[in-house]
Amino acid sequence: MNFEIIHLKETDSTNTYAKALLKKGELSAPFALVFADNQTKGRGRLGRNWESREGDTLCMSLIAPYPFKPAITLLSALAVYKTLTKIYKEVKKDLKIKWPNDLVIGSKKLCGILTESTDKVAVIGIGINLNSTSFSDDISHKATSLKLLTNKDYEAFDLAQRLTENLVNILKETDGTFTDAFLKEYTSLCINMGREVIFSDKSGIATGVDKDGSLLVKTNEGTERISSGEVFVSGIY
Ligand code: BTN
Repeated sequence: MNFEIIHLKETDSTNTYAKALLKKGELSAPFALVFADNQTKGRGRLGRNWESREGDTLCMSLIAPYPFKPAITLLSALAVYKTLTKIYKEVKKDLKIKWPNDLVIGSKKLCGILTESTDKVAVIGIGINLNSTSFSDDISHKATSLKLLTNKDYEAFDLAQRLTENLVNILKETDGTFTDAFLKEYTSLCINMGREVIFSDKSGIATGVDKDGSLLVKTNEGTERISSGEVFVSGIY
């Protein structure tokens, strides 16, 4: 393996744990996987919580030696897609990416990614709903799991290691920026494309993704580039 592995029984948040490790400076490899069997206070994008249950949810963070680059988080979603569809071929026809970095099945969310960066290092936190069959009232209308799709059970730690291996390889190959080939693949999987999207107080049709990871949206006033924040896809979430 070309990365260090820290396997925890339980932690509040693997992202928080990874950032504390970085502060202590005790890591022995430039890439490190922080994996937790159970996460008690998972954090999501835009200050939200991330719901997880032991045995049901994959919770991991990859520490990677890159300063903040917006494409990293989109490439991470692509790595999750590639890993899941390579190992579990039956999910390929259903899995899509919702910009910037959610993986969705139909109109529901399977995986979320929270990337937190310092000026030198990225902490890429990945949560995947594997075996969950129910969710809290807040998210039950928009969350799903692999088990709900296939009726099979999934093992988180092995998947996390294979995902990390793929993600490390992609980051090394691209240096955390979009190559033409990866951008083309990402765009072809992105569920936003050609659909109405709503952002801030505007709406338009998503037409593409830029090399820096921004979503391009055609509105009445011209093409807008969205680099962060919440984008709703009409009919999805
Ligand atoms: C989102 O969609 O809002 C992002 C969710 C990210 C959840 C993962 S679970 C592992 C890592 N640790 C956290 O506290 N969050 C991320």
